[in-house]
Amino acid sequence: MVTTDWEVLEKRISCRSYREKKMIEEEKLEKLSAFIDELNQESGLHFQLQASKKVGVPAIKLASSMFSGTVYAFAALVGSDDPVSAEKIGYYGEKLVLYAEKLGLGTCWVAGTYDKKSFWVEVPPEEKLWGVITLGYAADNTPAKQKMIRATIRRKDRRLEEFLEARQEFDRQPLWLQKGVEAVKLGPSAVNQQPVNIVFQEGKVFARIWKKGNGLEFIDLGIAKLQFEIGAASCGVHGTWEFGEMGGFRIK
Ligand SMILES: Cc1cc2nc3c(=O)[nH]c(=O)nc-3n(C[C@H](O)[C@H](O)[C@H](O)COP(=O)(O)O)c2cc1C
Repeated sequence: MVTTDWEVLEKRISCRSYREKKMIEEEKLEKLSAFIDELNQESGLHFQLQASKKVGVPAIKLASSMFSGTVYAFAALVGSDDPVSAEKIGYYGEKLVLYAEKLGLGTCWVAGTYDKKSFWVEVPPEEKLWGVITLGYAADNTPAKQKMIRATIRRKDRRLEEFLEARQEFDRQPLWLQKGVEAVKLGPSAVNQQPVNIVFQEGKVFARIWKKGNGLEFIDLGIAKLQFEIGAASCGVHGTWEFGEMGGFRIK
């Protein structure tokens, strides 16, 4: 059983194989719904929870080349079409991922490999559907195919030290900073591009996108900021981020 936030970060992986017949209990769906309401209120985003009501009927169709089993619920990630909104999708979406993991559910960010026609979602004017987060019970045994997909993608992981831009070597940095950077590396990113670096300059922490390209890097920026925040907090250093590229981390 997972207890601390740090353990959740360590345990989380993109879950691409779900149990066929195990639906999410009503009580957990209510908790997820209440949590999503809180996130929407704080962020101004329009996340929407959707759940199937029937065993064997998925809430969303995902690419069978990547996923197996039945996904009984998901959150549609709706927000404005600009970089700060994308960053908020990442930051608040990852909060939802970690909350769901604490409820014992498997999750996966999906921006590409799903069928947009398999569900209906309300998108206000000037906003768009950025992607979804799947929610469901992980299969007891991950099939070889899904194991291989993750191993193949994660094989291109960058080295831990590469995530930090600072004058001093990684090992000589304060432990809370090291843990924050480690948390960024553990986090999800689109196609595992890991496009965000932590910059430590004159005692101040910033987050920077060092690699642009797939169009989802601002979502990755928001995810990285939340991951860093939790990593630093695991060493007793609490802070909040300014949104925006090169936004700073203000220690409380
Ligand atoms: C914004 C975003 C979009 C993603 N889209 C997809 C997707 O369309 N299909 C998929 O299988 N995985 C998708 N992923 C999951 C990544 O491939 C995964 O996070 C990355 O490979 C790292 O693996 P891990 O999450 O298991 O640690 C996405 C992740 C993020 C953050």
